[in-house]
Amino acid sequence: MDSSPLILVVCALIALAVALAKLKARLELSKAKHRSLAGHARLARRIAALVPFYDYDETRFFRSDDPPDDVAVRRRAGFARLSALYRERYAKTAALTAEVEDGISDLQFTTAYRVPFQYSRFARKHLKSGAFVQSSEGVMLGDLDGNRFYDLTGSYGVNVLGYDFYKECVERGAAMVRDLGPVLGPYHPVVADNVERLRAISGQDEVSFHMSGTEAVMQAVRLARYHTGRPKLVRFCGAYHGWWGDVQPGVGNPLAARDTYTLKDLSEDSLRVLRHRHDIACVLVNPLQALHPNASAPADSALVDSGRGAHVDRAAYTGWLQRLRAVCTERRIVLIFDEVFVGFRIAAGGAQEYFGVRADMVTYGKTLGGGLPVGVICGRRDLMKRFRDDRPVDICFARGTFNSHPYVMAAMHEFLRRLEDEDIRRLYRGLDELWDGRAERLNRRLRDARLPVAVANLSSIWTVCYTRPSRYNWMLQYYLRAEGLALSWIGTGRLIFSLNYTDADFDAVADRFIAAAAAMERDGWWWCGADATNAAIRRRVLREMLTHRFAFLRG
Ligand SMILES: Cc1ncc(COP(=O)(O)O)c(C=O)c1O
Repeated sequence: MDSSPLILVVCALIALAVALAKLKARLELSKAKHRSLAGHARLARRIAALVPFYDYDETRFFRSDDPPDDVAVRRRAGFARLSALYRERYAKTAALTAEVEDGISDLQFTTAYRVPFQYSRFARKHLKSGAFVQSSEGVMLGDLDGNRFYDLTGSYGVNVLGYDFYKECVERGAAMVRDLGPVLGPYHPVVADNVERLRAISGQDEVSFHMSGTEAVMQAVRLARYHTGRPKLVRFCGAYHGWWGDVQPGVGNPLAARDTYTLKDLSEDSLRVLRHRHDIACVLVNPLQALHPNASAPADSALVDSGRGAHVDRAAYTGWLQRLRAVCTERRIVLIFDEVFVGFRIAAGGAQEYFGVRADMVTYGKTLGGGLPVGVICGRRDLMKRFRDDRPVDICFARGTFNSHPYVMAAMHEFLRRLEDEDIRRLYRGLDELWDGRAERLNRRLRDARLPVAVANLSSIWTVCYTRPSRYNWMLQYYLRAEGLALSWIGTGRLIFSLNYTDADFDAVADRFIAAAAAMERDGWWWCGADATNAAIRRRVLREMLTHRFAFLRG
């Protein structure tokens, strides 16, 4: 009997089964994407490329939400007052900034992206605060004009224990390695002590030193790919892991990241993908996402409306990390906690201690350098190994001229050593109660004063949220500065406190915060029409963009 029809049928059935399995895997992946643009990296990049530039002239700047005339007049008067104050108070700092701005590309970027682009040019022209500071002391910064500000920038998260603490780490560290100087390659003996302390803190077997958080993440992912033989990394929607291409697949990266899956936080759909796919090397978790799952870092330049939300549900996030841990163990996927930001901040033992979940690798950076630049990986021995005993040429390369730099290692040593001191240990006790209590107190005062602002926090990392639909929330950053509160360039999206803030320091910040918000309310920026909603604001902005993009809609 001729068997070829039977073989054909079997082949067709196998092909169908393979196609169906592929389709199922593809559908599962689609289902595990967050519905926002942050969950669709490629689409986000395509849409970003279509958004046209336009901005508001002087009249529109004050009237972009069609307020009554008297409100526009109040806004204009408030803006003029603020502008005069800035001109006078920050004169030297602003002058030096203007002098260097066209030579520093990073500065041009951060200056332009402080507020939504429609308002940026006008705000930049009239509210020049400057990019220079020259001193720090306690929780204060000083600028070139002699102004003092409460520091809420936290130096991007580096400043956990107060600037004076880091000055001491750097000075004592420099004294410790002075005889060796900047010799690279061989280690200064202080490295041995750092490794022991880091192993104890992280509960991991081995340590590797790098020069930035971004590099530590790059190497952790490379090691996971090397040891699993799988190409894909999973990151969660909105999570920041530095600016390396594979972990930043959306807007900001000119290339598509081919080997990255961006999945939903806190979602069974994502766990299903991890359970069923065979190409996933590692899962990267930035525990800061507990504050705003599935959303990107909240920058004021994205404050189109008042839709920014944040809230920590510690029990829910802990449960999520536990489930993630179990699936990663079951599927031999490497679980990497990226603690570059939250390590040594939310607890002395970082997120692993705070959430009670052990990762396979942990990346640290920022504060761990004792005030100097650093990135560190602590990980399981089998994952940290960069060569194979049975295949000597199959290696996983990672070097870096400045890794284990003696000055950095010595400052790190001071940092780690001081963590054991009683005055520092005391700062970590009751940390959440302290910072949650402070946030609650400020929120109560804001509510009592009927101001449309509320704060949310993960310990000492805070986000300002807005409770009334408005297009002008980003103005608050300028009022806060006028009250002597220094924010980073992303504005009210992230206030970072150092743990050496006393109650008196905090109360002073709260007083100024209330004063700034009250002035902004008085000046009419939070006026809101009876039928205003955040959705209506977004629709309106979308309409504006479309009419600027497509000439035929302008008629
Ligand atoms: C969680 C996380 N990972 C990685 C990085 C990148 O670190 P670096 O800026 O030192 O390269 C950051 C920086 O903010 C971060 O917050």
